[in-house]
Amino acid sequence: MSELHTPALRGAFVYGDRVKLTGPKGRLNTFTLEVDGEFHSHRGILRHDQIVGLPDASVVTNSSGEEYLALRPLLTDFVMSMPRGAAIVYPKDAAQIVSLADIFPGARVVEAGVGSGALSLHLLRAIGAEGELHSFERREEFAEIAQANAVAFSGSMPKNWTVRVGDLQESLPSALEDGSVDRVVLDMLAPWECVDVTANALAPGGVVICYVATVTQLSRTVEEFRRSGLFTHPQASETMVRGWHVEGLAVRPDHRMVAHTGFLVTARKLAPGTVLPSLKRRASKSDFSDEDMASWLPDMGAGEESETWTDEAVGVRSKSDKVLRKKVRSAQKIADQRMQDEPGA
Ligand SMILES: C[S@@+](CC[C@H](N)C(=O)[O-])C[C@H]1O[C@@H](n2cnc3c(N)ncnc32)[C@H](O)[C@@H]1O
Repeated sequence: MSELHTPALRGAFVYGDRVKLTGPKGRLNTFTLEVDGEFHSHRGILRHDQIVGLPDASVVTNSSGEEYLALRPLLTDFVMSMPRGAAIVYPKDAAQIVSLADIFPGARVVEAGVGSGALSLHLLRAIGAEGELHSFERREEFAEIAQANAVAFSGSMPKNWTVRVGDLQESLPSALEDGSVDRVVLDMLAPWECVDVTANALAPGGVVICYVATVTQLSRTVEEFRRSGLFTHPQASETMVRGWHVEGLAVRPDHRMVAHTGFLVTARKLAPGTVLPSLKRRASKSDFSDEDMASWLPDMGAGEESETWTDEAVGVRSKSDKVLRKKVRSAQKIADQRMQDEPGA
């Protein structure tokens, strides 16, 4: 793919920029500004050249006097509306991941899986041009959707982003040198299968963060990272964001909220040979034995791929191959449209 106009993050609108219009009834429309382009609604026409040259967040009027607010879409606007193959990491969790995993400008980050690429876009922004993002995805269609989404968002495939198709466990060891990675971000069904490769890839003190959807995955992930003895004690959390309605004296929480998305587990890689001082468990009624653990997580440490853990078993709705191919075409169409919309293309 050739390079496109990279949408500006500030300044007056120029051709090739994306613009998000909010119409009279709050209806949203997002499109790319084209030479001779027009936005048609059932009540009138707005020429793209009316928007070009205006500062971000300006009001424009169409041929029938209707007013529209023109804004540059934010990363979160793009992510929430882009084509999806797999379920995405929501902005509230992406923000926490960037913060808890301490993703810094210039960091060398490994990510698996890529899914629709939502988290990848947040990670790319956090590492900046000096950083490197190495993403691994076992399903080719998902990798294609994610890359098309990145092209649609940033105008070209980011130069510091490498996407490899394959299982992290198999692909990572030959892709990157041991101890050369600052951060590992795992959003996948069974992160506990990646404990060893993660430990090998990370530099001492490096952070691993896992995003899992269910309590059973959370428990298995924490126990396997802890059992490996290669990491600090894992920390687990979830993030709830409740919107508020604030209008005059009617100030209260919103009636609806996204109550659950997933859990985050973080740990840091220990230096070679370091043995973590064990935290003595207090004997109490709530104490548990190894047999109790085995009954809770029966295949833990079995050393072979478990049949127990499937997308369906943890409640992930999987898409048929036909639906996925449709998503790939839809993501690529948007990326291609961006290329055609390029001024002078
Ligand atoms: C929920 S999706 C990731 C969503 C992504 N973080 C986003 O925000 O768009 C999980 C992905 O992990 C991939 N996956 C699962 N296990 C994997 C593994 N061992 N190696 C690489 N990819 C894996 C799946 O194919 C799926 O695309």
